[in-house]
Amino acid sequence: MAFVLTEEQEMIQTMAHDFAREVVMPQAAERDRTHVFPRDILNQMGELGFMGMMAPEEYGGVGLDTVSYVLALTEIAYACASTAVVMSVHNSICVETLLRFASPEQKKTWLPRMCSGECIGAFALTEPHAGSDPASQRTTARLDGDEYVINGTKQFITTGKNAGLIIVTALTNKTKRHRGISAFLVPQGTPGLIVGKTEEKLGLKASDTVQLIFEDCRIPKENLLGKRVGEGFKVAMSGLDCGRIGIAAQSVGVAQACMDEAIAYMHGREQFGRSISQFQGLRWKIADMATEIEAARVLCLNAASLKDQGRRYTKEASMAKLFASEMVNRVAGQAIQIHGGYGYCSEYPMERHYRDARVFTIYEGTSEIQRVVVSNILLGPPEK
Ligand code: CAA
Repeated sequence: MAFVLTEEQEMIQTMAHDFAREVVMPQAAERDRTHVFPRDILNQMGELGFMGMMAPEEYGGVGLDTVSYVLALTEIAYACASTAVVMSVHNSICVETLLRFASPEQKKTWLPRMCSGECIGAFALTEPHAGSDPASQRTTARLDGDEYVINGTKQFITTGKNAGLIIVTALTNKTKRHRGISAFLVPQGTPGLIVGKTEEKLGLKASDTVQLIFEDCRIPKENLLGKRVGEGFKVAMSGLDCGRIGIAAQSVGVAQACMDEAIAYMHGREQFGRSISQFQGLRWKIADMATEIEAARVLCLNAASLKDQGRRYTKEASMAKLFASEMVNRVAGQAIQIHGGYGYCSEYPMERHYRDARVFTIYEGTSEIQRVVVSNILLGPPEK
């Protein structure tokens, strides 16, 4: 592609490619079947620097740019979407949010453990009644002496069971709506933090999605994230900006896997006395897939590059997430169609890719929410 990568970016891409194919991919189908969290693989990813990709070396990270991160995440997603989403939430939302909003002490305490992969991050914003509209959340955090006391329930929390540190938003002032929301660091194992129901999902079965219940969960007041109370909504929204680049990269990786599977299948399958790769109807499907994947990749790299230049990238991250997540669902559907009946069976990886991709248009902001973000920036918010 014409987006010129530096030598270092190419090296990271190659390293991630090799690791993904040799270590992540072989057991991906088995993990999907058994719902086993990829703890082992994440440990190895920590050793290789994949869990602190954009964090400076002083915190144990490797200090790479967002473009390199996107390239690596795309490769991991190609091999296993469940592993990729853990990597994405951890790097894009959790580590990035700490880098941006944590105090020097918080950074010193948490970042080295997170960058090594020992402590994985989760992000708890969504609630049973507050999904697309997180400003309507109900979880509260009340200051009691030197501690905050958190009460409430968080829903659909990726890695909520396996994370060592959870970024939690809660109301510190109920009368101020989004300006009354604050963000906190809650270590796993804190009394009063209860890991609730694990969701049975259509896909991403090796990544846990759980409910987190806070019952008089006490944390030191120093665990407030950000300079002051009331910054939590901004913390969450800017975390999601980078998170959405991650989901776009994940979509590109899975879509590339679908297309490669479809091409390999077409070369190996004969019907009507010749290879089905000779039929124009199927050849054009591949042309359309390749075009859409390339467009998504460029959108994704563009958003990453804007972030690296320190420019605003909210709109471009939403555009990348919107297009890439919708694209992978189209590509996965067409790749199954090319496989025919075999694509519908779990013997081939297409069935897993199709299930995994479905949530990409939903989590970290639905496609509808991405359109809200983009149109609000272009037109201004609608009249209230
Ligand atoms: N960066 C920083 N600040 C931002 C921001 C951004 N990208 N977007 C908005 N804000 C700020 C605004 O400037 C505004 O601040 P002021 O009050 O100081 O002016 C404030 O936030 C409120 O902005 P809006 O009025 O635009 O907020 P809203 O309530 O209308 O919501 C929204 C806007 C885009 C719909 C937003 O609510 C949203 O993104 N919703 C989707 C939530 C989402 O993506 N949830 C996924 C959760 S994570 C997940 O999926 C699980 C997982 O682990 C993978």
